[in-house]
Amino acid sequence: MSTVVLPGSFDPFTLGHLDLTRRAVALGHRVVIAVSHNPSKAGTLGLEARKTAIAETVEADGMSDSVEIRTLPKGLLVDFCRELGADAVVRGLRSQLDLAYEEPMARMNHHLAGVDTVFLLTDSAYSHISSSLVREVNALGGDVSDMLPGPSLDALRAAADVS
Ligand code: PNS
Repeated sequence: MSTVVLPGSFDPFTLGHLDLTRRAVALGHRVVIAVSHNPSKAGTLGLEARKTAIAETVEADGMSDSVEIRTLPKGLLVDFCRELGADAVVRGLRSQLDLAYEEPMARMNHHLAGVDTVFLLTDSAYSHISSSLVREVNALGGDVSDMLPGPSLDALRAAADVS
């Protein structure tokens, strides 16, 4: 079984992220979800809240045996991949805009350490969903309940209660 790293902010972890995780597992991979910690990035959820929501989602989905949740350490993603012995990075592509953002990073990771990035095309049911738009819609009072797994929705609501 090969190990792949699925990195991201996951602020919050959406149904699109869940679909990506399921599909990487279905391809036969052990998936390490690496949650980035960027205190300077204006986010809604703290690192632990995001990790807990992902862990609960993965557990409820029956993927705990194939999926591990880790904090992405400060430093290069490729160093983390090397430390894990990971074979590749997995990222989802919703559109050409995502590709424009991802391509230089994927090329750089390959240049630095020979780490390849495997891109999975986002299912069209989720291609309009991004964590940032979910945060915005939620902050403005919109309904995001059909875009998030239950634990992410709970975490978002809990964060709103304390802010
Ligand atoms: O969900 P996001 O916010 O688009 O995730 C971005 C992430 C975490 C994948 C990206 O910031 C990243 O790869 N960070 C690791 C830092 C790094 O290795 N940078 C240099 C090579 S591109």
